[in-house]
Amino acid sequence: AVEAPDTKNLRVKLVLLGDSGVGKSCIVLRFVRGQFDAASKVTIGASFLSQTVALQDGTTVKFEIWDTAGQERYASLAPLYYRGASAATVVYDITSAESFQKARFWVKELQKHASAGIVIALVGNKSDLEDKREVPFEEAQAFAEQNQMALFIETSAKTADNINELFTNIAKKLP
Ligand code: GTP
Ligand code: MG
Repeated sequence: AVEAPDTKNLRVKLVLLGDSGVGKSCIVLRFVRGQFDAASKVTIGASFLSQTVALQDGTTVKFEIWDTAGQERYASLAPLYYRGASAATVVYDITSAESFQKARFWVKELQKHASAGIVIALVGNKSDLEDKREVPFEEAQAFAEQNQMALFIETSAKTADNINELFTNIAKKLP
């Protein structure tokens, strides 16, 4: 295929961080394969997947995604995955205030130790479970603003709500 001369092809190393059970692997599965797994198994160590998206201006972005394990015993491995990443997605579960506390911790850790200029997105997943919500939208939005985060979005890996938007919006924020 002949490409327009101004077409850009970007490669982006992206890491997902967040408490066990918030839905990181399901978000990736939804984005990469368009599927949802109600019986998703906990991730051991980390898993790797990639997916390419095309932006409206013709730019293609290949996401190289490190889906980390949220269980506490793996926390010390996280720097291996966020080191050199140009984007990070910190995920919590809107039905778990505890998972939001953990997300705040990861944001601070990334701001201290990840590459300068890393694009960090805060993601409240399981937006389909509105009746069980523990984390108000406004509270998370305020935290994202106060910490100069690039993006805050609520998603549902189950219904696919805002999943493509999450990655497309990250792509648009890249330098
Ligand atoms: P670790 O690998 O242990 O870090 O967990 P994880 O963050 O990868 O969680 P995972 O994606 O495995 O999902 C945990 C559970 O939440 C599974 O039972 C999923 O089916 C469920 N789940 C994930 N996303 C959603 C969602 O958007 N809505 C609902 N209702 N359930 C979800
Ligand atoms: Mg997982």
